[in-house]
Amino acid sequence: MIPSIATALLLSAGLTAAQTAPTDLIGTWSSKSNSTLTGPGFYDPVNEKFTEPKHTGISYSFSADGHFEEAYYRAIANPTNPKCPKGILQWQHGTFTKQPNGSLILEPIKVDGRQLYSDPCMYQNAVYTRYNASELFERYEVLTDPYHNIPRLNLYKFDGSPMMPLYLAMSPPQMLPTTTLNPLTTSQPGGAKATTKVKRGELPANVNVIRKRTPGQERADRWWWFGVFLTASGGVLYFFF
Ligand SMILES: *[C@@H]1O[C@H](CO)[C@@H](O)[C@H](O)[C@H]1NC(C)=O
Ligand SMILES: *[C@@H]1O[C@H](CO)[C@@H](O)[C@H](O)[C@H]1NC(C)=O
Ligand SMILES: *[C@@H]1O[C@H](CO)[C@@H](O)[C@H](O)[C@H]1NC(C)=O
Repeated sequence: MIPSIATALLLSAGLTAAQTAPTDLIGTWSSKSNSTLTGPGFYDPVNEKFTEPKHTGISYSFSADGHFEEAYYRAIANPTNPKCPKGILQWQHGTFTKQPNGSLILEPIKVDGRQLYSDPCMYQNAVYTRYNASELFERYEVLTDPYHNIPRLNLYKFDGSPMMPLYLAMSPPQMLPTTTLNPLTTSQPGGAKATTKVKRGELPANVNVIRKRTPGQERADRWWWFGVFLTASGGVLYFFF
């Protein structure tokens, strides 16, 4: 009896792992511009820093062991004041599961996600905060894109509406370590780096300013070039809201 119990335990452990990782999802997927990609090139957790991709876009990675990572770089049009486009970079990671009904559920590690928000006409500085958002995709499909002849992932939002198509950019996926990365780090006098334990549910005081903008200097600061991206990246821009 004992060996069969052991086998049963192994089986159930194996089943859990298998359920969390549908193999067709594995890889790094990116929207058409293929320049927003998950991994260290987008978010640097050690230095608490984003690197702005060339073009707006989104990217999801899924690993064989049930982890996901996502990177969003979005420009938000401001119809009432076209000179004031807002920009958002968001990053998070965590675990994903495929539900029996075909839905995907993404559960982020809440303390790890980050957002950089810039609204040049409202704030002088870009606002750097924690970010977490659980996601439910009603369903997904992986197919070969007839035009590009590469694997394409269609994700359908919780309400059934489609996301922009994502294309396989890398396999195996390019991801940061899938374990909990943060504690926000702070520099100590003397150069030593200490980790600050932040209380559960506590935001990092809403303002870890990454770049400052001073009058006359804004043109030199790439964070404030969203207006240029709006015209330069033409067909690859996506607007939200
Ligand atoms: C599928 O299952 C998930 C989790 O149980 C649930 O949240 C979701 O609403 C379900 N989707 C549909 C279309 O029934
Ligand atoms: C997207 O970018 C990745 C990384 O630079 C590259 O390996 C891949 O071939 C690109 N995919 C397409 C379809 O251009
Ligand atoms: C996760 O996001 C929610 C909603 O924005 C927020 O209330 C909560 O404090 C966040 N949790 C953490 C640990 O940052």
